[in-house]
Amino acid sequence: MAAINAVTDLSVEDGIAVLTLNSPPVNALSAGVRDGLALGVGQALADPAVKAVVLICEGRTFIAGADITEFGGAQKGASLFEVQTAIEDCSKPVIAAIHGTALGGGLEVALTCHYRVAVPSAKCGLPEVNLGLLPGAGGTQRLPRIVGAQKAMEMMTSGQHVPAKQCLAMGLVDELVEEGKLRDGALAFARKIVAEGRPLKRVRDLNDKVEADRAHPEVFDAFRKANARKFRGFLAPEYNIRCIEAAVNLPFDEGLQVERKLFMELMSGYQSAAQRYSFFAERQAAKIPDVPDDTPLIPVETVGVLGAGTMGGGIAMNFANAGIPVTIVEVKQDALDRGLSTIRKNYERTAQRGGLTAEQVEQRMSLIKGSLDMNDFATVDLVVEAVFERMDIKKDIFTKLDAICKDGAILATNTSALNIDEIASVTKRPEAVIGLHFFSPANVMKLLEIVRADHTSKPVIATSMKLAKKIGKIAALVGVCPGFVGNRILAQRQREANKLVLEGAMPWDVDRVLYDFGFPMGPFAMSDLAGLDIGWVKEKSKGETLRDVLCEMDRRGQKTGAGFYDYDENRNAKPSPVTEKIIKDFIEKSGANPRQISDEEILERCIYPMINEGAKILEEGKAIRASDIDVVWQNGYGWPVYRGGPMWWGDHIGLDKVLAKMKEFEAKMGEQFKPSPLLERLVAEGKKFSDLKA
Ligand code: 3HC
Ligand code: NAI
Repeated sequence: MAAINAVTDLSVEDGIAVLTLNSPPVNALSAGVRDGLALGVGQALADPAVKAVVLICEGRTFIAGADITEFGGAQKGASLFEVQTAIEDCSKPVIAAIHGTALGGGLEVALTCHYRVAVPSAKCGLPEVNLGLLPGAGGTQRLPRIVGAQKAMEMMTSGQHVPAKQCLAMGLVDELVEEGKLRDGALAFARKIVAEGRPLKRVRDLNDKVEADRAHPEVFDAFRKANARKFRGFLAPEYNIRCIEAAVNLPFDEGLQVERKLFMELMSGYQSAAQRYSFFAERQAAKIPDVPDDTPLIPVETVGVLGAGTMGGGIAMNFANAGIPVTIVEVKQDALDRGLSTIRKNYERTAQRGGLTAEQVEQRMSLIKGSLDMNDFATVDLVVEAVFERMDIKKDIFTKLDAICKDGAILATNTSALNIDEIASVTKRPEAVIGLHFFSPANVMKLLEIVRADHTSKPVIATSMKLAKKIGKIAALVGVCPGFVGNRILAQRQREANKLVLEGAMPWDVDRVLYDFGFPMGPFAMSDLAGLDIGWVKEKSKGETLRDVLCEMDRRGQKTGAGFYDYDENRNAKPSPVTEKIIKDFIEKSGANPRQISDEEILERCIYPMINEGAKILEEGKAIRASDIDVVWQNGYGWPVYRGGPMWWGDHIGLDKVLAKMKEFEAKMGEQFKPSPLLERLVAEGKKFSDLKA
């Protein structure tokens, strides 16, 4: 085997050239990889002994796309377009041999090869949309020529990784080869192509699919309409669709020009910058500076969950889904039965939608055992406590867990706001105590806030971070403080939303502004959905707050047909004249004058204090880096992905602007708006949150 460059080798076996890429971790199309490909294909073409070329990758995957770290920098080495032209115009057949994932630019390179073979475990996809982009190396023009407009729209706007078997059925892959024998299989395929004298198949020349699609222009708008809710606010899905329309309606080269123009537009916009940032932010969040990769892990083979209520049931499902047996302990049989039957109903609902087979439902249920005896936790490796949010109860429970659980077991609490150091203090092993803060519904929500207490050991942290990944969560490590990171920042927004309403804005005004910003719903619609009476006690209610009055009138949210809003029988919300009157009475009683509040003020009052609170959190060391805060808000609170997160958004709009507004609000409304010293310092130094080192 001869080295072409540091990441590419070329060998010739029996008339077949094998061009091997080896650029860990994911063979992304860096300058070195592009150069190696261009040179390698050129050498194979020039060698008269070579009859065909196999392109194959070492390591965990085929090419996983363009090298995202190179985006925005000056182009070095061969361009991707030159590489693709060299392959597609090669007069000898080029065969892509795919394992792992052929994604983005990786699949686009494979689409310029004349044939594609894959092992059954391989997957192909164009996930650029998740980076706020579209496939910019001909993928938007080539994919529809193989799979048609409808499937291309589905693949490109979801970014899904399609399994090899489905790729074969769609014609995206020409042949499957035996798992673990990709090289031999691809070589055999190449020999067959040569022996049969099969023509060079250039995807760009295929026209029957796009010609057929031309007769059905209505599919595009139908697709847009069907997905309007999912695509709301995002630019990239619409741009992907426009490129596919161009593929259907224009000659190949003109379609490519449309693709290039729209790609450049997306690449230079803030949405893609935010989405690319988020890709790295999630991966960065897994890295804890003082907990190195080689920190010993605690094997977690069995789990105990205490409490089978709203959270406990969902938490247990996460572990069962990952094949880990769970014991759920409750105080009373009826609570246990209710909890287990809710879990079963959730699984059955997933099965009805086709997400699980009946057999899988039973298999998961068989991993969940109910009990009324905490002694059943004696052998488990991890306990997650999810009982009522009361310090006295939690302390009592942790004293018992300390006595029952084996040495080395991790003792976790799902508390949403209580002081975990205080909980840990009742045990003789505070190093084993950690917060695992799941979000509701716990079996669905991606975020896991992992809360490190004063004495939590490094192996307990490392194990919790790894376990989060295993159960499909995105984890961020945070410190102990009231509300931790997510709820602490939420409290700022909630306070301002409530205040705005008492100054003259209506709940639906506040909700509309935040919905238009990109949140899935505003705070008042959210309260109606959750139920206004959560934590409300009838006997103690004295009509002091808006909520008290609404609950006293039995307007407790969607479930009672009225809350802040009025609801029709289909739970459609309408602004409520009743609520409006209550608000006006409140304002009158307080002696204040209601005023007209602009949408701009609503947004700034809700968002800027969140950014400021994030700065305080960083200052206090309760989050490791600004991007971890953004990971929390995107994955747990519906912050729009295309706006990065509160900290990224602060950087984007300018911290000087945020600071100036906070000062203005502070002067008018008091010290709740006092800017954090970190915010002041960054502005004085002309820096951003992203300049801070972890
Ligand atoms: N460019 C640069 N680095 C990349 C990368 C890429 N395309 N894809 C992954 N990486 C890096 C990650 O940042 C991570 O680095 P780290 O170890 O320093 O944190 C490392 O590779 C491993 O990644 P994961 O932790 O995500 O590994 P997994 O095994 O869980 O997943 C994967 C592998 C499925 C390939 C996943 O990394 C992934 O989805 N990557 C992105 C794929 C993608 O979006 N491709 C399209 C790129 S845009 C494009 O091609 C434009 C073109 O149309 C012109
Ligand atoms: P819940 O009231 O729905 O469930 C609590 C369950 O714990 C009940 O079924 C109760 O019978 C059981 N329980 C009480 N004492 C027990 C004991 N000594 N032993 C065994 N079981 C006992 O409460 P929910 O909402 O599930 O909350 C649980 C914890 O999760 C709380 O700490 C809460 O703050 C936290 N949390 C709640 C979220 C939510 O949205 N509901 C979100 C994130 C955290």
